[in-house]
Amino acid sequence: EQKAEESSDEDTSSEEEEEEMNNTTEASESKETKPPCEEAETTQEVMSEQKVTDEQEEKIPHQKKVINKRPSEPAVFIPVDRSPEIQEARLKLPVLAEEQVIMEAVRENPCVVICGETGSGKTTQVPQFLYEAGYASGSGIIGITEPRRVAAVSMSHRVAKEMNLPTQVVSYQIRYEGNVTSDTKIKFMTDGVLLKEIQKDFLLQRYSVVIIDEAHERSVYTDILIGLLSRIVPLRDKKGMPMKLLIMSATLRVEDFTENLKLFRTPPPVIKVDARQFPVTIHFNKRTPLEDYTGEAFHKTCKIHRMLPPGGILVFLTGQAEVHSLCRRLRKAFPFRKGNTTTAEDEGADTSEAMRKFKKAKQKKTVSLPRIDLDNYSALPVDEGDEDREAGIGDEEDGGSDLDLGDDSADSEEKSDPSIPLYVLPLYSLLAPEQQAKVFRPPPTGTRLCVVATNVAETSLTIPGIKYVVDCGRVKKRFYDRVTGVSSFKVTWTSQASANQRAGRAGRTEPGHCYRLYSSAVFGDFSLFSEAEITRRPVEDLILQMKDLNIEKVVNFPFPTPPSAEALIAAEELLISLGALEEPPRTGRMNELQRAKLSCPITPLGRAMASFPVAPRYGKMLALGKQQDCLPYVIAVVAAMTVREIFEDLDRPAHSEDESSKLTQRRVRLTQTRRLWAGHGPSLLLGDLMVMLGAVGACEYAGCTRKFCENNGLRYKAMLEIRRLRGQLTNAVNAVCPEVGVFVDPKMTPPTEHQVVCLRQIVLAGLGDHLARRVQAEDMLDPKWKNGYKTPLMDDPVFIHPSSALFKTLPEFVVYQEIMETSKMYMRGVSAVEAEWIPQLLPQYCHFSPPLETPAPRFCSSTGTVRCHRPSTFFRVGWQLPAVEME
Ligand code: CDP
Ligand code: MG
Repeated sequence: EQKAEESSDEDTSSEEEEEEMNNTTEASESKETKPPCEEAETTQEVMSEQKVTDEQEEKIPHQKKVINKRPSEPAVFIPVDRSPEIQEARLKLPVLAEEQVIMEAVRENPCVVICGETGSGKTTQVPQFLYEAGYASGSGIIGITEPRRVAAVSMSHRVAKEMNLPTQVVSYQIRYEGNVTSDTKIKFMTDGVLLKEIQKDFLLQRYSVVIIDEAHERSVYTDILIGLLSRIVPLRDKKGMPMKLLIMSATLRVEDFTENLKLFRTPPPVIKVDARQFPVTIHFNKRTPLEDYTGEAFHKTCKIHRMLPPGGILVFLTGQAEVHSLCRRLRKAFPFRKGNTTTAEDEGADTSEAMRKFKKAKQKKTVSLPRIDLDNYSALPVDEGDEDREAGIGDEEDGGSDLDLGDDSADSEEKSDPSIPLYVLPLYSLLAPEQQAKVFRPPPTGTRLCVVATNVAETSLTIPGIKYVVDCGRVKKRFYDRVTGVSSFKVTWTSQASANQRAGRAGRTEPGHCYRLYSSAVFGDFSLFSEAEITRRPVEDLILQMKDLNIEKVVNFPFPTPPSAEALIAAEELLISLGALEEPPRTGRMNELQRAKLSCPITPLGRAMASFPVAPRYGKMLALGKQQDCLPYVIAVVAAMTVREIFEDLDRPAHSEDESSKLTQRRVRLTQTRRLWAGHGPSLLLGDLMVMLGAVGACEYAGCTRKFCENNGLRYKAMLEIRRLRGQLTNAVNAVCPEVGVFVDPKMTPPTEHQVVCLRQIVLAGLGDHLARRVQAEDMLDPKWKNGYKTPLMDDPVFIHPSSALFKTLPEFVVYQEIMETSKMYMRGVSAVEAEWIPQLLPQYCHFSPPLETPAPRFCSSTGTVRCHRPSTFFRVGWQLPAVEME
């Protein structure tokens, strides 16, 4: 399942950009939603399996010659007016030494791979080389994709500054925002944005060069882009509008791109940029703290600051909440008074004493529901309540270097320190750009820079002046169970390659030191490289996008690393069951059927679903939503479901007795609030989705203030995001079906009873594969099944969470948004459905007995058995055929 945004503390690597493509703003693109027919055919043709014939082989050298002679080939030099300081700094970058080699290779080859250590100047300089060589002087522009938003924004600013050009010329486009104009010549964007553009214009005619940056990260969209571009480039050539592709990587491990014959018949040249890397001494811990690595990072940082010579410190943690928590502890330990250590730079992490007292006072007073006249105050933490705790783990590293830090038991954070102030800055992907930019500026004189970062600082951004790296050795990743669809975020060990990248950050300007908060034995057990993201997540969204590009045989797509056949089949099965792909004929042997399943064409419903910037299940809800004026509600529900964690976590553990009783009170009050939003009678059956609707409506009614959210257990950032998404989805729906003309009033009136029924049916149609049936006592004697639900694919029961609106109702059939495993397997986003809707809305999940002799009309027997498509006795119900009409 795709989620728009990770909750604030789930910010890590690629996960946070997951939804990038799906939520691309409808920038100034053409309104065309399908590739023109002619191109569609060609797409199909080029995407189908490549057969290299002798004749084609012969053509290759000939084509090369043509490329060299092509009149459109830039032969100009576009001067750039750089300041002397910039020019001087540039000349120090290793990539400058390779400019000639790179430009020559680009001129002679359609695709070039550039490998160079992080910080060697690839991202900032290569676009400039291309600009100077005239690649943006015609009608085409230079596009650069980044897997992370933070890099797209920050690099566009940097390059604009270096080139002394306005941001109208060197621009960026990310999910919600951008400053691209008709004058843009260099455009930084997230990979998802470019993928969405390919859907609108398969040939990417606006671009003369596309650079895929950070290819080593192997983000899903980057991988797909490389696959698509490997076909687009020759196609552009064939049409006489040549385009160049550059793939840039921070590691030399590029064979998945260069040696993959499915991608490039002639392997592209690889240019290595030799970085001047100073030696970095690695210090392993003797012991590996299993839990409190943040505490360990704190102690290590304190020691470095107290005992070691000047030089910036860079600490790698796994998520935003950890970053803020460590920033707070460090600021407390080494106060920095002059500036603004505890101001907006932390976005809501203000924990000054006054604010803390205020919060305590505030928690005591119970605030009843929609009170909107509350006094206005800012910067309350939304959900970053990690209390600073003293960890007390001593330092024990391997001996050896004279820069090893001895044991130091005196680093109590309560005692302020005589050392020079520590200038502490957080850095993570969702941090506001102005805040991110601070890490590139020199720290105030007389202070030491300390950046606490997620792995965004691993390769995307190079922070100047870092001499010490503290590496927790972990990374936060989203894990999916492919069979059950259960997902969870887990902090796991990183790979050796990543750990070495992190260490490398210390040796940019002089010899440095890397303190690994784990033992060398643990390091030895790390995997060598991180695996490509595409191999560890469901791919239905990608498959639907590809089918919309008329790539029918997805198995033949030139993936740099293909997803498993299992994942591809699961995705196609889901899309077939949602009605997005045509069902293959149910004849033939099993493996023939499987093969047929892998080449199902897209249906008109599938096209409509693909045009919405959300995951297929939600796309289907939007496609069905026009009935009974339900669209505004469907949009609100889909927006709310797409944003992660809109509700405060009521299950979080308390750290003290006092806190525990407060938390219990809060839990009771907020559960009541949620029940109130769910309403009574028919609307209650929409369950948790009604709660979401109620929350969105109430929040908008109250003006969507931070205070309202805080009082009512909503995450402020999530609510703001929902607001943006609602606007965006409304535009998308209006673009797809202009005749409907949805207008979304932020303050919705509650749906009528009839609309609620309709909404429940729409939700069932979208989430149909997430169907669960309550187990009857007589079916199951085992007490573990008490109040449990059976799902098609799992052997164990799943449950309705106590905080769910339907916890007391326990309807017989429910659909759920997802299953999250905490203390039990809990369904989230539960909504009740009526048994008789199932055969109508989800015929694929039912089978009928006795079998129908005559094929049509399809559902006109009077009784039958509703059964899940995988054998599961619990779905057998006798039903009378319904009279429900679905348009
Ligand atoms: O892409 P690659 O990692 O090879 O290097 P880069 O991001 O182009 O960075 C080249 C240099 O520019 C590094 O030394 C960065 O510290 C510097 N830079 C900067 O000073 N300010 C920025 N906003 C971005 C980069
Ligand atoms: Mg870079």
